[in-house]
Amino acid sequence: MATDKATLNVDGETFDLPIITGKLGRPVVDVSAFADAGYWTYDPGFKVTAPVESKITFINGGEGELLHRGYPIDQLADNAEYLEVCYALLHGDLPNAEQKKDFYAKIQQHSGVHDQLRRFFEGFRRDAHPMAIMVGVVGALSAFYHDGLDVSDEKHREITAIRLIAKMPTLAAMSYKYSKGEPFMYPRNDFNYAENFLYMMLATPADVDYKVNPVLSKAMDKIFTLHADHEQNASTSTVRLAGSTGANPYACIAAGIAALWGPSHGGANEAVLEMLDEIGTVENVDEFMEKVKRKEVKLMGFGHRVYKNFDPRAKVMKETCDEVLDALGIDDPKLELAMKLEKIALEDPYFVERNLYPNVDFYSGIILKAIGIPTSMFTVIFALARTAGWISHWLEMHSAPFKIGRPRQLYTGETKRDFVKLEDRK
Ligand code: SDX
Repeated sequence: MATDKATLNVDGETFDLPIITGKLGRPVVDVSAFADAGYWTYDPGFKVTAPVESKITFINGGEGELLHRGYPIDQLADNAEYLEVCYALLHGDLPNAEQKKDFYAKIQQHSGVHDQLRRFFEGFRRDAHPMAIMVGVVGALSAFYHDGLDVSDEKHREITAIRLIAKMPTLAAMSYKYSKGEPFMYPRNDFNYAENFLYMMLATPADVDYKVNPVLSKAMDKIFTLHADHEQNASTSTVRLAGSTGANPYACIAAGIAALWGPSHGGANEAVLEMLDEIGTVENVDEFMEKVKRKEVKLMGFGHRVYKNFDPRAKVMKETCDEVLDALGIDDPKLELAMKLEKIALEDPYFVERNLYPNVDFYSGIILKAIGIPTSMFTVIFALARTAGWISHWLEMHSAPFKIGRPRQLYTGETKRDFVKLEDRK
């Protein structure tokens, strides 16, 4: 990496700040010298802060470009299976035939869960949000798999990555079945990863010769790929920060799930469907858009901290949406509504000036609804798919020495003052 330097002149002193240039994207200024100058850097929302170096994913927000280990997202979505993308995220490149066979076999072997976990689910109310269940259950895995908790042991780290990727579909489907009061379904060896997820979600024990529609399993697999990783987003940064304390990987992934749940992040796909329900018909769109401009509501599924051009995942998602609706013969009025919203947003100066384009969450909800998946499960599916990215970043952090993440602050509270007894307080 080429280096140069920036100079900080403050209080009559000059400090050299090294500039480090990576393989792609903006160079960074190493600001650790600020500590010597008696200052902290201040960057609410980390808009211009790179806390880590990474080789996993690259995003060029201006160009709408997303690479996983160098491969463009549309090429991965159209040509690779999700588990092949998981392998690339974990190991640095797509698997060859032998590596693929071995990896798939390990995922299949670990797709079941400890039977005692069933009782863990029973502690939740039936109407608990599946994300609330997932945060609890994934964190609880550290109480079951003690043979993979020594984060300093590479073998432990590897088996835990496999277990998490393998078990997320099973746990996600269990969280749904539990909320419906239906029996849990378990993964079958004759189904692939996406087929098994749809089977465990939508089949019942009576469906002895259940068949998965290949158009739907292919679309599901593509949705997993489109959500697999996304650089240092809020939930991935949460996983890294939790991991920097030495916390076990299950606890770190549970923290990532909790962070993803927010409507500004992974919860947006569920919020998009709620927004489309609230708008109701195409006739109400113009009035709704006026509410957005008055900042009374946000246009969910639009905008992005990094993409100030289109989100390349939204483009693939829209194509998949058309394929699924055609294959199912569904004429979903919500899609017509979504298209009208997109058209207005792409032409209206309010949105154009703010670079507000559809993001990955805008069309995913419509596809998932068409497949028969309830809105409450949309963010769970995002968490399922993003587990590969989260654990890859966690592994990357552990692959080299690291320090505990401990940001500082700009303090604007009370200056030092004497204690006031209760009787003297006003
Ligand atoms: C994901 O980081 C990632 O990579 C996340 C993700 C991933 O894969 O991990 O890509 C997944 O989280 C996608 C984003 C899903 N969230 C939504 O769809 C929720 C709606 N979007 C917004 O909440 C918002 O766009 C954010 C949170 C996504 C980004 O917010 P920023 O970068 O902090 O932008 P901002 O709030 O500074 O907005 C700039 C302007 C503001 O207007 P002005 O003050 O300039 O007048 O744009 C406006 C905002 O009010 N704006 C919106 C808007 N998003 C921003 N106005 C209406 N609707 C919106 N959705």
